[in-house]
Amino acid sequence: MSTSRTQFSTKLGILAATVGSAVGLGNIWRFPYEAGQGGGGAFLICYILFVFLIGVPAICAEFSLGRFSRSGMPVAYRKAASSRRWDFIGYASVIAAFLIISFYSVVAGWTLEYIVDSVLGLFQSTPDSSRHAQFADFTGSWKAVGWMVVFLLINAVVMLGGVQKGIERVSNILMPLLFLILIAFCINSLTMSGASEGLGFLFKPDFTKLTPEVVLGAMGQAFFSLSLGMGCMVTYASYFGDDTPLIKTSIRIALLDTLVAIMAGIIIFPAVFSFGMSPAEGPTLVFEVLPNIFHAMPGGRIWSTLFFILLATASLTSIISVSEIIVAFLCDDLSMSRRNATIVVTAISIVTGMLCSLSFGPLANLNLFNLFDFISSNILMTLGGLGICLFVGWKMDSKEVENQLRHENGHKNALYRYILFCIRYVAPAGILIVFIAGLL
Ligand code: TRP
Repeated sequence: MSTSRTQFSTKLGILAATVGSAVGLGNIWRFPYEAGQGGGGAFLICYILFVFLIGVPAICAEFSLGRFSRSGMPVAYRKAASSRRWDFIGYASVIAAFLIISFYSVVAGWTLEYIVDSVLGLFQSTPDSSRHAQFADFTGSWKAVGWMVVFLLINAVVMLGGVQKGIERVSNILMPLLFLILIAFCINSLTMSGASEGLGFLFKPDFTKLTPEVVLGAMGQAFFSLSLGMGCMVTYASYFGDDTPLIKTSIRIALLDTLVAIMAGIIIFPAVFSFGMSPAEGPTLVFEVLPNIFHAMPGGRIWSTLFFILLATASLTSIISVSEIIVAFLCDDLSMSRRNATIVVTAISIVTGMLCSLSFGPLANLNLFNLFDFISSNILMTLGGLGICLFVGWKMDSKEVENQLRHENGHKNALYRYILFCIRYVAPAGILIVFIAGLL
């Protein structure tokens, strides 16, 4: 095991980077619309159950594999298994990472356009009735492709900086900023007339809405939001120090990530109800419904600028972590330099991202955007999560797993037995049941 591998420099940096990976479009864009379509509170309860029964143990499993092997995918599996038999899961993760970057950078690009529109006051000067057509025009255009490329180039600059000077430093700056903006928004939202209705929707469960599809959606959302199932946390943990407490860190990530998702709900639903809109609008919730609200709200121009900065910030720290899966693969497995790896990732992502972006225009028949999202979020991520739990729970040397999870500052972690039980039984069974039920 190479001891020369770079590491994050501080504990806070580790938290900022991992929470930065977890908190992203998944929390602020995807969670509210999934919750909106899944009946609000009922979805939330399922979601929280999945986060703590499956999510936290799965993060622990990824962390154990990553720090033990000090490698990215698929080398991590190869080292821990001392064979190449598990490589395919690692390669599947790298492919999944490409699929995610492709559609994620498209939406991230939209946030940049919306920042500019907000600053220019465009939501204020155009009528609400044109919002849908405008969004449709924009997303299908080459302009959207351009913003996606800009986003990928910003990502490339951070990646070139390396683990400490790029990823860690940027996360240390952006994550506190993100929380500040979130808090300001929550306070503002709670003073709106639709606050109690919005909060009621988010927190009062309507169990009649709970179909197997919604439950699968909640699990997929938990995986996506916690950056699980494709080796992202394996890769980051390969840069952890030996004294980083893995169980404690994963619980913190889960708590903060869930907090941000709930905050996003607290921000969006009161506004939606205050302005008489539907919470079940779907993926366009943030991009079509919110601008109407910003239009009507006092100080809307500032709030909308802040909101889309929030989205862009959250997206950047997440996309960085997805690219790192691929960069680590190229460096560890193919011995590429970090610079060349970054160039390869960026070049390929620009092409695949363009195909996704044009799915809203000329390539609508192909709709790779939805296909990539579906394959990665609903299939590869769940199977990847299943794979990692089975591997760490049953195949990896149990002494090593115990070493990774149990000794935190020399003390035994009280949760060790619970976590191991979940990694071995609860998580795999849960993933399989929900996955099969959802497919049927
Ligand atoms: N968790 C991020 C979000 O909620 C997305 C993300 C980043 C991700 N890295 C990942 C999802 C790795 C799956 C795997 O937006």
